[in-house]
Amino acid sequence: MMKKIEIVKPTINDLETIVAVEKAAWPDIGDGMVAEYDKFKTRIELGLMYLLYLNNTPAGIISFQQPAFTNPKILNNIHQNYKENGLLEWTEIVKKHGLPKDWYEATNNGYINNGVNSTHNKESNCIFLIGVGIDSALKGHGLVNHMINHTIVEAKKDGTEFVLGYGRLPQMHEDHTSATVHDAEKHLLKQKPSTNLPADYGARFHVFNGAKAVSVIPNAMDDPESLDYGFLALYKLK
Ligand SMILES: CC(C)(COP(=O)(O)OP(=O)(O)OC[C@H]1O[C@@H](n2cnc3c(N)ncnc32)[C@H](O)[C@@H]1OP(=O)(O)O)[C@@H](O)C(=O)NCCC(=O)NCCS
Repeated sequence: MMKKIEIVKPTINDLETIVAVEKAAWPDIGDGMVAEYDKFKTRIELGLMYLLYLNNTPAGIISFQQPAFTNPKILNNIHQNYKENGLLEWTEIVKKHGLPKDWYEATNNGYINNGVNSTHNKESNCIFLIGVGIDSALKGHGLVNHMINHTIVEAKKDGTEFVLGYGRLPQMHEDHTSATVHDAEKHLLKQKPSTNLPADYGARFHVFNGAKAVSVIPNAMDDPESLDYGFLALYKLK
């Protein structure tokens, strides 16, 4: 059967649908990782989501923001540094370039606005990927690539220079029960046989779509599969 894929900007009428896709996307662990109603309401209202339909069935969601905490000059510096030196140290990036230390800080715990400040600034010409999920029943079609690609294509039209995200490393737990930063770096650098893409599928879709996996993030988010490790995915669009 032909696959029909449609990607739309959801409205508030899609809130129930979006929460259902999110719940169906995540493994039955790390409950806090599933964003709740209020978080999605804000993201929809601010126009910071896409909803993907596979053969007219809601199948995937992606959330993003324009980060208030960084700019193209900083990200270009990090990108250049990575190109010259390979994997960078996260504590150095946080100290020197002021990136939020974890996903919670980068997104006000997923709420974007916390009543005091916002991690989203619509004047920014960068995009921070907050989260992406595909309904487990509809996995296996590489739909995540359609979601990421669509976000990048639309971002380019708006003059976006960089896309970044704090990606997961969900296959960490398959090789380790506990791990050092060095273990996590080795894991991130491991490649899928006969490709030059990461072996961990959480990193693979980012690199496949053009990101550099720049740095391992310890305690990126409460994420048992990843042993709480994440990594900085950085896409240079110009
Ligand atoms: C990550 C995610 C969005 C991918 O969904 P998808 O597009 O349907 O992915 P597919 O099932 O088509 O698989 C894509 C690739 O990952 C691999 N993969 C998927 N699940 C896997 C698993 N549990 N173990 C190992 N590999 C896996 C597939 O083999 C495929 O490999 P390829 O790149 O060589 O083709 C989906 O697994 C998901 O929603 N996970 C929970 C939320 C999440 O982790 N989001 C990402 C960070 S916010």
